[in-house]
Amino acid sequence: MKLLIEGGRRLQGRVRISGAKNSALVLIAASAISGGEVILDNVPKISDVLTQLEIVRAIGGRASWTGENTLCLDWSGPLEGELPYVHAKKLRASNLFLGALAARQKRVKIPLPGGCNIGSRPMDLHLKGFHLLGYQVSMKHGFIEARAGKIEGNRIYLDFPSVGATENIMMAAAGTPGITVIENAAREPEIVDLAGFLNAMGGRVRGAGTDVIKIEGVSEFRGARFSVIPDRIEAGTYLIAAGISGGEVTVENVITRHLQPVIAKLQDVGLDVAAGEDRITVRRRGDLLPTDVKTLPYPGFPTDLQSPMMALLSLARGTSIIVENVFENRFQVADELKRMGAKIRVKGQTAVIEGVERLYGTQVRATDLRAGAALLLAGLAAGGVTEILQAELIARGYEKVVEKLGALGAAVRVAGDESGEPGAKSV
Ligand code: EPU
Repeated sequence: MKLLIEGGRRLQGRVRISGAKNSALVLIAASAISGGEVILDNVPKISDVLTQLEIVRAIGGRASWTGENTLCLDWSGPLEGELPYVHAKKLRASNLFLGALAARQKRVKIPLPGGCNIGSRPMDLHLKGFHLLGYQVSMKHGFIEARAGKIEGNRIYLDFPSVGATENIMMAAAGTPGITVIENAAREPEIVDLAGFLNAMGGRVRGAGTDVIKIEGVSEFRGARFSVIPDRIEAGTYLIAAGISGGEVTVENVITRHLQPVIAKLQDVGLDVAAGEDRITVRRRGDLLPTDVKTLPYPGFPTDLQSPMMALLSLARGTSIIVENVFENRFQVADELKRMGAKIRVKGQTAVIEGVERLYGTQVRATDLRAGAALLLAGLAAGGVTEILQAELIARGYEKVVEKLGALGAAVRVAGDESGEPGAKSV
């Protein structure tokens, strides 16, 4: 799929932020633990979520949309303990069924997960956790298998605060007798959401949002209704869109404190930021200023907004430095931005961005979801038309992005759309 962007229009207006992709993906997997009916509200209808639902159905769960963003999941039937490779290879988050199915039936086999091409993404920390809980874990022929031996809560220290490892261990521990303590746990808002959801289903989880999470295992869970938190990365992307296009955009339905590290950087580049509890307005008042960015686990600057930030800094008056500390392969977008006129040098995990006067539209390729978002942002500011190839990667994580940008005044359309109207068709 191709996206065409006619650059040079200032974005203006308000946009409602969807539910968080990375929360919805883990809550869908975790709902299996209930053994009953779960209703999730504020679920974004994006392709990663649809893939996760294919997995739900393939292993014996039932899933249906009962409202635009309301999902009903029914786990009362018997389940397969093995995830099909064909679905799992499409999505890294398929690995989250490891913890969910372990909690539910103590035996699970998943293919080594696929996903965006942003780094090696090993599973060693997840497996260390399972081992310490008493699971026998084996990795053979591209599958990970975990079988409960004598399982019991334990103290698990993570060498790195991995989001996925924290989530998988939380889920498995929720159904493991005794107390599990995860140290150096990830502190992302999505972890707090998962803890809230596990507790709504009858789990006992405390401390989520800090680096020590305590889980008291229980033997019975129940169905629940729960609402997904707003997507801080989608919100950050629209705020950067305001800055790069020289306009004024208000994001609504956000949790402002989840965006503090992003707001601080937007202020550093000279943007006006006005924040209420659940809405943020960004306005450009003059030149963009250079700044330095280091990606870090939450509450540091999110790696998922690193590429969009690189697009923004390409147009700053001076030299900026970005250090990527989370994924080793997240600078591929630099080559594509350079095709649009950006001046970027990459050495290892550091990128030096010398701001230029303007970017030019040309043909570029999305190499991963957030790289695609960065190219879309660059296209909004570039002179002429930008054509993004492999734009379906953007649809993995941004709900109705063509409509939302169109409503803010951008000229973005899916190539091949007969009407030719900007914003006529969704990605
Ligand atoms: N890591 C290990 N060993 C492990 C697990 C992770 O070395 O066992 C390393 C990874 O290689 C990476 C770092 O730890 O260098 C961070 O990985 P983490 O496990 O925290 O990431 P993840 O759970 O695979 C989630 C999000 C990502 C987001 C990261 C970091 C989901 C479904 N995905 O991935 O989202 O970038 O956390 O915040 O929650 C995206 O939305 O575009 C995206 C990639």
